[in-house]
Amino acid sequence: MTRPIPHRIAATLVAGLSIALHPMVSWAQPAKPSAGAGPDLRPIFATAPDVLEGKRLADVSCMRCHGANGISTTAGVPHIAAQRPPYIYLQLRAYLQGARPQSAMTGAVKFLSDDALVKVSAYYGTLEPARPAPVPATKGGAAAAKRDPLQAGKAAAAACGGCHGDNGVSKTPGSPSLAGLDPKYLLAAMKAYKTGQRKHDLMKSLAAGVSDAEVADMALFYALQKPARAGTPAAGDAAAGKAAAAACAGCHGNTGVAADPANPSLAGQDAQYLATATQAYKDGTRKDEAMKAIVGALDDRAIRNIAAFYAAQQPQAPKVRKPLSLAELSERCDRCHGINGNSIDPLVPAIAAQRADWLEQVLNTYHTGSRKSTAMAAMTSVLSEAEIKELAVHYARQTARAVTFVPLPTK
Ligand code: HEC
Ligand code: HEC
Ligand code: HEC
Ligand code: HEC
Repeated sequence: MTRPIPHRIAATLVAGLSIALHPMVSWAQPAKPSAGAGPDLRPIFATAPDVLEGKRLADVSCMRCHGANGISTTAGVPHIAAQRPPYIYLQLRAYLQGARPQSAMTGAVKFLSDDALVKVSAYYGTLEPARPAPVPATKGGAAAAKRDPLQAGKAAAAACGGCHGDNGVSKTPGSPSLAGLDPKYLLAAMKAYKTGQRKHDLMKSLAAGVSDAEVADMALFYALQKPARAGTPAAGDAAAGKAAAAACAGCHGNTGVAADPANPSLAGQDAQYLATATQAYKDGTRKDEAMKAIVGALDDRAIRNIAAFYAAQQPQAPKVRKPLSLAELSERCDRCHGINGNSIDPLVPAIAAQRADWLEQVLNTYHTGSRKSTAMAAMTSVLSEAEIKELAVHYARQTARAVTFVPLPTK
């Protein structure tokens, strides 16, 4: 079933340059510099007969994959109905030229002339968009599905506060502060306790009682707490420790703030813990070849002094981003993709009501760099897997607006 082409068509299509395609908004924005700038951005015109010819081409060459009305029923194949025609055209060119490698699409476009690409793009622009994906009718709906890792981490960490301090700043001599530790280090430490690679009966049994996901949430929670010096006594001579600590700076940082998450930060750490840990490396009860070699020659006094030096340093929070809410994230996307993913920029695709599986797949390809786009690489580089999934579902549920054409006389 195809929808009859409405009489209001007879469009002027412009790949990138001027011309209003939409009654509400002007598409006459200055052409952005893009990979396809140059000849691709010249004006292209499509009239009603052109759109009809586009439909004929689409029925022969595109329909079997993209569906009768440009609405795909196949996982991994995007809807293209009501997509912004200049964007469609540029993507078809990208497949044709190999800039966007994909064998099914290359096969579909390789025998089509540039004129045919224009017409088929125009045709798909005239179709009604897909319906939004339904929101599950469960109680609480989408809100219930949205978990907050920071809150979850805080709740799980309540069991640790007795020894490690409520906000991860230790008040108990011998128990390390956890605020100021990189989450990757904290995760690795918990894993080492769990597997027994790092020996500590108490922490082993505690680690066995928490899932990996809970540990990840707690690691995030601690990383986002304001670190402070542990309020515990330090027996050594910090000034004497400073000189000896020069040997440690390469890995733990000049003032005990480590740059590499594999090396723990020592700044502001409980002095007794620092001394015990150093001693444990020295006598081999805590196994780490690099640490053993470095601290092997230190006597008790030097160990205490170095511990006092690090305990007196100002700790710093690791560089970790507070997770954004879905509203905060999608607000950023909407700056380019239009309100709720209804793009008004001809070079930026509409993503409202697009298939969720496609959105997720394509966001991952930008994330890994296999699909190239400077704008999207920057946007997706900071997204977690969970955020990509959430955004895909969010946009699939938005109502899509059709492209409306301004009538033009036939050429
Ligand atoms: C053999 C199946 C097949 C055929 C035939 C086909 N496509 Fe596709 N199309 C795909 C798949 C699969 C993708 C996703 C490709 C990717 O991962 O880049 C795609 C992607 C696209 C995209 C990119 C959409 C976006 O949002 O990035 C456009 C535009 C497109 N097709 C248009 C067409 C047109 C126009 C035709 C007919 C000339 C056509 N396709 C024929 C399978 C097909
Ligand atoms: C009863 C006190 C106690 C409780 C409760 C406790 N810990 Fe510990 N934790 C310790 C002690 C003592 C050490 C030092 C062990 C060692 O020497 O390896 C430690 C070490 C750690 C370390 C290693 C830190 C580093 O700098 O290497 C992490 C991570 C940790 N605990 C996380 C947790 C988490 C998460 C919880 C809550 C699920 C928790 N701990 C609950 C006492 C406790
Ligand atoms: C070659 C890099 C390197 C150098 C140099 C180094 N360390 Fe380490 N240090 C590490 C690594 C890696 C770990 C984590 C090992 C593990 O997982 O047990 C560590 C762990 C520690 C810990 C345990 C901290 C905690 O939170 O559990 C202390 C204390 C420590 N180092 C002190 C020192 C001192 C003191 C020196 C200098 C005399 C020093 N380190 C020099 C790499 C280094
Ligand atoms: C700075 C502008 C900008 C921002 C911000 C932006 N995008 Fe994009 N997006 C683009 C452009 C331009 C393209 C087309 C790139 C290409 O040709 O591959 C695109 C392509 C996409 C596509 C591919 C659509 C398809 O069907 O192939 C998806 C999905 C997408 N963006 C989602 C998002 C999401 C989700 C966000 C927010 C996390 C976002 N974008 C933020 C500019 C932006």
